[in-house]
Amino acid sequence: MNFPLFPEEASTIAGRVDALTLAWLGVSAFFSLLIAGLILYFFVHYRRRHVGEVGSTKDVNTLPLELLWSVIPLLIALSMFAWGAKVFFVAFRPPADAVEYWVTGRQWMWKIQHPEGVREINTLHVPVGQPVKLTMTSEDVIHSFYLPSFRVKSDVLPGRYTTVWFTPTKVGTYHLFCAEYCGAEHSLMKGSVIVLEPEEYERWLETGKTGPTMQASGAELFQQLACVTCHLGPDAPPDRAPRAPSLEGLFGKQVALVGGRAVIADETYIRESIISPQAKVVAGWQPIMPTFKGQVTEEQVNALVAYIKTLGKEGEAADAGAPAAGTATSGG
Ligand code: CUA
Repeated sequence: MNFPLFPEEASTIAGRVDALTLAWLGVSAFFSLLIAGLILYFFVHYRRRHVGEVGSTKDVNTLPLELLWSVIPLLIALSMFAWGAKVFFVAFRPPADAVEYWVTGRQWMWKIQHPEGVREINTLHVPVGQPVKLTMTSEDVIHSFYLPSFRVKSDVLPGRYTTVWFTPTKVGTYHLFCAEYCGAEHSLMKGSVIVLEPEEYERWLETGKTGPTMQASGAELFQQLACVTCHLGPDAPPDRAPRAPSLEGLFGKQVALVGGRAVIADETYIRESIISPQAKVVAGWQPIMPTFKGQVTEEQVNALVAYIKTLGKEGEAADAGAPAAGTATSGG
């Protein structure tokens, strides 16, 4: 019988998502049938048998019954919540060894950049068995990145980063859809994920256009845009006072802001600080940074963010498969 009700399970999370979905479906079906069945049964059993028949006035204690039908559903709902929360935490927390890919959505295509610098449009090649983390943003409107076979779906928003991750378990070609109506050609905004054996993936990478890595192009931009003249790193000459906070080891840290607020330095914060530097000024510094809005493309912002993330974290940069980042770091 070839009548698939579910897409193929091709990632490590797929089975867990399906188990939860089927359990909910089972519980819902069970209670729907039970209630519908009881309604039908009571219709017949307690029907009025002759004109003038009146119901019993016998006093019955219904409290135990009411408690029962309140407590049992409560326990079921709570355990489903706990189960769902567990799956959610797994689904939205990429493991530490996940390789980061960058996804930029626009009307109407998906642009994808590999950590090694290879770029693709509407296709994503990944090696089987390797956890993949996607850091995603949009150039224009809200899109939604949807990989049914991997049970992965997340909105892709302009001005913000969202992430998803998956570990593909099977070699093959799988659908990629945009799952948010985003304009005239929304239905054409689709592509495929191609899962390859690791050796094949390596070979594929070789044949791809080899550009600089994300971190390396970010490092280059950091020089070109003269970010480095204010954000002096630890290699700064001692006779020069920095005009902006150092970005070494910034990523993931809590940053104190002017006005007493604080923010965690995540991708979205770094992006905002490039595009709207006045939005969140670091405590102890002047709001003198110019905006880079319109001067950098969304993909260049991604590269800058990727580069800034590695600053002060040589080990991690090497793990991410970006050999050039080590040398680039010393320039920042
Ligand atoms: Cu992009 Cu729908």
